[in-house]
Amino acid sequence: MESSEVGAYWEGNASAWIELSRAGYDIYRDALNTPAFLAMLPDVDGLSGLDLGCGEGTNTRQLAQRGARMIGVDIAPTFISAARASETADPLGIAFQIEDATDLSFPNDRFDFVTAFMSLMDMPDQSKALVEAHRVLTPEGFLQFSILHPCFIPPTRKTLRNADGMAYAVELSDYFRRTEGEVETWHFSTASGRKLDAHPPFKVPRFHRTLADWIAMIGAAGFFLEALEEPMADDETVRKYPKLSTTRVTPIFLHFRLRKRGTAPLHPR
Ligand SMILES: C[S@@+](CC[C@H](N)C(=O)[O-])C[C@H]1O[C@@H](n2cnc3c(N)ncnc32)[C@H](O)[C@@H]1O
Repeated sequence: MESSEVGAYWEGNASAWIELSRAGYDIYRDALNTPAFLAMLPDVDGLSGLDLGCGEGTNTRQLAQRGARMIGVDIAPTFISAARASETADPLGIAFQIEDATDLSFPNDRFDFVTAFMSLMDMPDQSKALVEAHRVLTPEGFLQFSILHPCFIPPTRKTLRNADGMAYAVELSDYFRRTEGEVETWHFSTASGRKLDAHPPFKVPRFHRTLADWIAMIGAAGFFLEALEEPMADDETVRKYPKLSTTRVTPIFLHFRLRKRGTAPLHPR
């Protein structure tokens, strides 16, 4: 599957995604994944950053609020329009533009850091996206990105929950079956009733790779691994959002921070 075809699926998802995520239905992102990503992020105040697959721009805005000079790019025009509308309403100095992250228009060494929140795994040619991120980074620059955890969200997974909705186990299979755009159909799990009726489910092409594939692609692009995190919801978050109990059975997200130059050791926990 080509990037353009993937982009067409995301364009089809965009209006529902924008409405539901901005209404707070993406609890995995808002209550766990983005806070964990930002906790892991080095100080970006005064740095120039690029956010790949920025969607409607909520996460890009959080980077700008930390003092970074941001450009957000996405392949789906409706996401970029929504991100620009937020920027117009409440300016943070962010430029949003339509770009394919596997074929960027920016010159070499343009950015101090690059981020990708849950977008690289949605690209058919993840190697190329990593090579492009490496190319546009300054020599001391870093790439931080989050993906679905390749070990625990393989193509087939079933979460087992008790009567209170608490997850206690998962069934996994097909870990070694790389997928090339198999379309998964789903909703934000907290959307229900009228919200679900108002929107068709999302259709997301998947490009599953194993953990070893990711490590190989990272090395081949020229990066060194600087930090790795597997976010888990704390007690309070699980009390508030029982769905997130699944992240205490196994991690479902994996966060990487990579450097062009391997000067720093893996950070201590
Ligand atoms: C799961 S959404 C994440 C959006 C946003 N980063 C967030 O965390 O809310 C994945 C995003 O990646 C974008 N995307 C997929 N392939 C892309 C590509 N080749 N170049 C740029 N963006 C892409 C999609 O349009 C979508 O907005």
